[in-house]
Amino acid sequence: MKILMVCLGNICRSPVAEGVLKHLSSNKNLALQIDSAGTAAYHIGEHPDKRSIQNARKNGVDISKLKARKFSKGDFDEFDRIFVMDENNYKNVISISSEKHHHQKVDFLLNQLFPGKNLPVPDPYYGNEKEFEDVFQLIYKACDKLTDELILNKK
Ligand code: 4NP
Repeated sequence: MKILMVCLGNICRSPVAEGVLKHLSSNKNLALQIDSAGTAAYHIGEHPDKRSIQNARKNGVDISKLKARKFSKGDFDEFDRIFVMDENNYKNVISISSEKHHHQKVDFLLNQLFPGKNLPVPDPYYGNEKEFEDVFQLIYKACDKLTDELILNKK
């Protein structure tokens, strides 16, 4: 299964989601291919935000080597599931394709924890360390649930 995590800049939230999901899938022996992308081009080629790198490291996850890229239409065919962080990401991703089978692959990451609520992972870009830690914990819980469900569905 191939999973893509998407946010706006691909330097704060989605690289954390990519790193956490890789970490958890490795711990749980799940064979997943995982990547992340942003809907905006601002940070293409950059490593994640220093604050995200530091916070993830504190929590045992190394995201320092990831590099930002922009979401593209081909990602709809490449990936089985596409998780967005907020409603703007959702609208931006959906607007890139008019095909229903593409749209069906897209969901809010936090619907893993709060089904059908379409709640956002808040953007920590203008926040402080606490916002980065809160974002990490939310993403961790959602990815923990996601990996548990993938394991259950495999059996
Ligand atoms: P992200 O956060 O979408 O979680 O990567 C942001 C990163 C950069 C910007 C906005 C959000 N920016 O405006 O440059």
